Amino acid sequence: MLKAVTDWLLSHKYNLATAILGAAALIAAGTNSRIAVAVMLLAVLPSLWIKATAPVLIPEPEPEPPEEPLCDVKSAFAGFDSPVYMLDPKANVIYQNPSARHVFGEIEPGQHISARIRLPVIMDMIRETIASGRNGMTEYSETLPGENVFQVRMIPAETQEGKAIRFYVLIFRDISESRRIDRMRSDFVANASHELRTPLASLRGFIETLLGPARTDTAAHERFLTIMLEQVTRMSRLVDDLMSLSRLEIKARVAPEDAVDLVPLIGSVCDALAPLATDLGVEIKRHLPDHSINVSGDRDELTQVFENLIENACKYGQEGKIVDVTLIEKPRQPIEVSVIDYGPGIPEDQVPRLTERFYRVNVESSRSKKGTGLGLAIVKHILTRHRARLLIRSELGRGSTFTVRF
Ligand SMILES: Nc1ncnc2c1ncn2[C@@H]1O[C@H](COP(=O)(O)OP(=O)(O)O)[C@@H](O)[C@H]1O
Ligand SMILES: [Mg+2]
Repeated sequence: MLKAVTDWLLSHKYNLATAILGAAALIAAGTNSRIAVAVMLLAVLPSLWIKATAPVLIPEPEPEPPEEPLCDVKSAFAGFDSPVYMLDPKANVIYQNPSARHVFGEIEPGQHISARIRLPVIMDMIRETIASGRNGMTEYSETLPGENVFQVRMIPAETQEGKAIRFYVLIFRDISESRRIDRMRSDFVANASHELRTPLASLRGFIETLLGPARTDTAAHERFLTIMLEQVTRMSRLVDDLMSLSRLEIKARVAPEDAVDLVPLIGSVCDALAPLATDLGVEIKRHLPDHSINVSGDRDELTQVFENLIENACKYGQEGKIVDVTLIEKPRQPIEVSVIDYGPGIPEDQVPRLTERFYRVNVESSRSKKGTGLGLAIVKHILTRHRARLLIRSELGRGSTFTVRF
């Protein structure tokens, strides 16, 4: 009230001054005409001065008071795709957004939040936030139907318009995906370090022996240095594979567009692997058409795919003695390349895991055959980028078929 009066007085100070001086002039006129003229001039001066100095004021439209101070906030939360509640200071629900309704079910405005959310960690956090007036945060996980982790935050807020309303925003965020990626990343780093640590430890052992007990044993030198060279080669294979994977990850979403003729490409992969096959006592049989079959792709990457598959078939299907490589093209059907071996096969429950990084059916057998456990992971990445698929069929004791379907 007092503020309104002072405001009014301040904004009308010049008019008031004019009025007071004018009145004084009239009174003075009754006594002395010179004084009256002087006072009248003084009365006019302030209004002249206002004209010269006062800024031109554009009248601002009075802001319309919102019907309800929380309307805007509610409509903002309605668009969130994670559950959001607005609570009053007694933890009664003022508003629930559609996502909260979908996840936790309908709750009437005015009902206590515990009617829908009963988890003690969340209820404790709500109580604490209301008591302290400071932001609160907690996490909880659900193990059914899947492993889901939620982060729950509660933030005190107040509306500025009109009468102040204090409320709390309770937000749920599903962080399961980012947790899963974190875990994958740390597993990957742990696996990669473990793979590098084994050859490093062996190198260190040999170096120490060469510097110590075997310093003068020239016969041992050659033996040790040969093993050391093998270990170093294994490490560089692993680093090469890791680099391939990381390069592929970077360009995962870009489909390669060159036209690649699969017939000569597969032919030259078979040629390149012939010496290895001979060493293993395996014959690679090609069943390729005598005309070109083009797909859009990246020549080097597709070479890497068939190298991995045919090499695996020779190494792990060695007992079968034969590896068939067939390229089939039928009208109106996808182009398919199959690499078939007649070796021991792969247990059914392990087939879906073969394309995981570092997954090996038998770690020792893979290591002894110069495997890194990354080959099929690389194959899968390349094929995904080529919009192609890898299909694996295997039967214990009969062998395996790895098919690339373009
Ligand atoms: N043709 C196959 N027959 C049997 N097992 C196979 C075959 N191809 C792959 N595997 C299994 O899958 C695992 C993963 O293969 P890969 O990713 O190429 O890794 P690496 O060959 O480096 O061990 C191999 O260690 C092996 O156990
Ligand atoms: Mg391999």
